[in-house]
Amino acid sequence: MRIYIFLLILAAIASHDAGDCARILGLFPHIGKSHFMVFEPLLRALAERGHHVTTVSFFPLKNPPANYTDVVLEGAVQDGLSSMDLSMFEVSNPLMKVPLLNTILKNIFEMGMTAPLAVSTCESIIRQSSVIEALKQKYDVLIVEQFNSDCMLGLTHVFGIEAPIVGISSCGIMPWTYARIGLHDNPSYIPLLTTPYTSKMTFIQRLDSFISKLYVNDLYHIIQRKERAIIEKHFRVEIPDLDEIGKNKMSVFLVNTFHTLNGVRPTLPAVIEVGGMHLDHSRKILPSYIEKFLNESEHGVILLSFGSLIKTSTIPKYKEDMIVNALGKLKQRVIWKFEGSGEEGTLTGNILRVKWLPQYELLKHKKIVAFITHSGLLGMTEAVSAGKPMVAVPFFGDQPANAAAAAEAGFATIVPYVDITEERLTKALQFVLSPETQLNARRVSSIWRDRQADPLETAVYWTERVIRWGHHAQLHSPARDMPLYQIALLDVIATLAVAIFIFLAILWYMLSKVFRLLFGRESKLKMQ
Ligand SMILES: *[C@@H]1O[C@H](CO)[C@@H](O)[C@H](O)[C@H]1NC(C)=O
Ligand SMILES: *[C@@H]1O[C@H](CO)[C@@H](O)[C@H](O)[C@H]1NC(C)=O
Repeated sequence: MRIYIFLLILAAIASHDAGDCARILGLFPHIGKSHFMVFEPLLRALAERGHHVTTVSFFPLKNPPANYTDVVLEGAVQDGLSSMDLSMFEVSNPLMKVPLLNTILKNIFEMGMTAPLAVSTCESIIRQSSVIEALKQKYDVLIVEQFNSDCMLGLTHVFGIEAPIVGISSCGIMPWTYARIGLHDNPSYIPLLTTPYTSKMTFIQRLDSFISKLYVNDLYHIIQRKERAIIEKHFRVEIPDLDEIGKNKMSVFLVNTFHTLNGVRPTLPAVIEVGGMHLDHSRKILPSYIEKFLNESEHGVILLSFGSLIKTSTIPKYKEDMIVNALGKLKQRVIWKFEGSGEEGTLTGNILRVKWLPQYELLKHKKIVAFITHSGLLGMTEAVSAGKPMVAVPFFGDQPANAAAAAEAGFATIVPYVDITEERLTKALQFVLSPETQLNARRVSSIWRDRQADPLETAVYWTERVIRWGHHAQLHSPARDMPLYQIALLDVIATLAVAIFIFLAILWYMLSKVFRLLFGRESKLKMQ
């Protein structure tokens, strides 16, 4: 019987047509390593399933699988995006202390930061012959990052690539990409990625959300026009608006979120939530000094990491003291990712500072009881998967939004870096260490993990589904091809408004006639 079932499963796997062996081109022109960490498992999995995968990115794979080809992008590395000094976050500008104005300014600054990078990367990519060679080949599907640049969309048009596109985002959906699949980005309850708002916004927050989204959409349409001009000039061809290319070619949009963690949003069949896709479930060995430190802890250990981008060692002394004082009062131990610590870590009091740590493996460890994090999406995803509550210390980018969503889900509390004090941190730690929060974190984790299929499997399935059906299996909303005035029913509202106006005008005219008839005669009588 068992053998029979086994054979059945084998037959099912064999008959499952994966588009046989497809040719896949991945285009990832953004320099952020954490972005590529989300895409890599998918590209690997596709190659391991027998597809031929060519990847254009800044990050060649270590031990690539068979039939996997790297096309490595050169240059365009910006120091600002490879490490960040904490002094950047010391607020001195008085404008940044004005409510509303400070979030609008912050949005404008941060969303503007990646814009010039898109243009300079585009300028560089079009001249790289290895990329051009890769674009001249034939493909069945393209996997294209939907972040700050649409340069790649323009290039696919120049080289006549007809293959459908699987869009992919390592964070939430950028505001200007919603329209590509006909999804409506309503600022009244969908906060901008860089704001600390949840789906329940006050009037002021909705105002900010509306203004900021108008601004960033406009900014990125300018970027798209610049990229288009760069391509047209270099290749001496005319190409359509890059947004139009995205609209016509993007079949599916894989998004690295899952609503249990990131908040419920309207979606479409084209939007596939694959949050958790990057998680590596293989067991890693912990360094023995870390394991010993965990083993010897009586009340559990709190993990503190501000990620790989932020240089923790540049923390100002007064801020470090606040953190150390708050942590020093705990009966729990602490592991802090801190560059410049000793080989075997540096122990002071109950705090062990280590240079590097296997974060997900640690978060899964039963002795870890809480996570103090910069609220990067990958780390938060690891913590929700492991069921550990968080003190979210957001700095920039999508971190405030990630933190707000996790706090709304009830298993995180927020202490923005600029607002850290010993008292606030102490209170936040009390919250995450409380039995209720610990329980809630485990429950949210169970709900987050409860899915039809593993997120990586889901991503592979949808990519192969696009390979099988190409442009025939439409998943976007009809709204994609409608002008805004029709989507918002402005024409219908205007017609109704005119009709009501005409009706009221006729009514007024008739009533006035009747009145004149009645009272006009009366007054005539009186005059006589
Ligand atoms: C690599 O591609 C070749 C040719 O399509 C195929 O025969 C082979 O099985 C592939 N290798 C793997 C490991 O999938
Ligand atoms: C930690 O404890 C586990 C079992 O509880 C044991 O297997 C392991 O060897 C210990 N590690 C160290 C470094 O003490």
